[in-house]
Amino acid sequence: MARIFDVAIVGAGAAGMMCALTAGQRGSSVVLIDHAKAPGEKIRISGGGRCNFTNIHAGPKNYLSANPHFMKSALARFTAADFLAMVDRHRIAWHEKTLGQLFCDDSAKDIIRMLLDEMRTGGVELRLGIDVAAIEKAEAGFRIETSEGQIEARALVIATGGKSIPKMGATGFAYKVAEQFGLAVTETRPGLVPLTLEPGQLTELTPLAGVAVDAEVRHGKTAFREALLFTHRGLSGPAILQISSYWREGDAITLSLEPDVDFSAVLKAARRENGRQAVQTVLAQHLPKRLAQYVTERLRIEKPLADLSDKVLDTVASFLHGWVVKPAGSEGYRTAEVTLGGIDVAGLDSKTMQAKTVPGLYFIGECVDVTGWLGGYNFQWAWASGRAAGESV
Ligand code: FDA
Repeated sequence: MARIFDVAIVGAGAAGMMCALTAGQRGSSVVLIDHAKAPGEKIRISGGGRCNFTNIHAGPKNYLSANPHFMKSALARFTAADFLAMVDRHRIAWHEKTLGQLFCDDSAKDIIRMLLDEMRTGGVELRLGIDVAAIEKAEAGFRIETSEGQIEARALVIATGGKSIPKMGATGFAYKVAEQFGLAVTETRPGLVPLTLEPGQLTELTPLAGVAVDAEVRHGKTAFREALLFTHRGLSGPAILQISSYWREGDAITLSLEPDVDFSAVLKAARRENGRQAVQTVLAQHLPKRLAQYVTERLRIEKPLADLSDKVLDTVASFLHGWVVKPAGSEGYRTAEVTLGGIDVAGLDSKTMQAKTVPGLYFIGECVDVTGWLGGYNFQWAWASGRAAGESV
């Protein structure tokens, strides 16, 4: 007769580990299963190896979901300060980079070690390198058929993440389980992902590949002010990754380069001071040189400043603060940091993450239709939703 656990969790990522350590420390017997050979692989590679583990400003406004209120309860009950308290207890050195983003001073592995330590305190059984073949309802709760035999548990938590970076073992597993148990799944798409351009546009922008600039990138009413990077495939950098979660195929985005610079005033002042200067030379005082060159060539500005009217200088300024670009697509799940959409939150209890129609079945982390902005918000959702389920199972 197989041992029956109180809780079985599938997926030893950020959310699964937080759920496991919480349930274990509350006295439940917990088994945590993953098909990967190591736990928390996305934590390990996150934040350039230093893990942007939370954001001190994290709140519901930083998340996308079909129900913008769904994440409120979990985020309020386990905050960035709560996670930071755990980090401090483990004496992990950290720093704030920009915009409230907290990173490890040393290595993302410190966060994984911390979670493993806390799991040990809770007596969690961690089973790695195990494939789940099937899940079914059983008398005690749920039966999981794995490559290493059956596991039974009273409660089952699905924490297998989204579809981003399939090379690292991301699967659509959570969505299949949801469908099996009659839960709805909203459309999924890559989020926090570089945007691509159609070949013609790309050829034109080739000279800019590698150029970075401070920009505000807008889509409808949503705008982000961070760095923008021109690449060989299209557009990237934090400002683009952020807007990519709002962008849809066929939509245009608007770039405002160096938004604090009043280019119209700058060009007119330069004309007064020395009319023989080229527009490109003046722009290059505020923009990367290649970008200044591209803009003047694109707008066919060849004459020196003295020979240009106010109207022409205003056109240059308007272009720089209102450059409309129509991306062709995105780089897809191959490079996306997250998956937008997922398990429909209408089917989940926002306090516990339990399926409303299937007692004992929980979904947490990225597989749920809650997606954060870039900047530590996605880990904060993983911690908060993992905590909420861990306190309920
Ligand atoms: P996560 O993907 O972490 O874990 C899922 C686990 O389930 C994995 O261990 C996987 O092996 C396992 N699994 C999947 N299918 C399975 C199956 N069929 N059977 C068994 N196990 C299975 N966020 C942030 O806040 N700050 C940051 O710095 C970064 N940086 C970052 C960099 C990169 C390159 C990426 C791709 C992503 C980020 N993110 C991030 C996003 C963040 O990594 C992500 O939101 C969380 O890891 C989600 O946590 P989960 O636990 O939900 O899934």
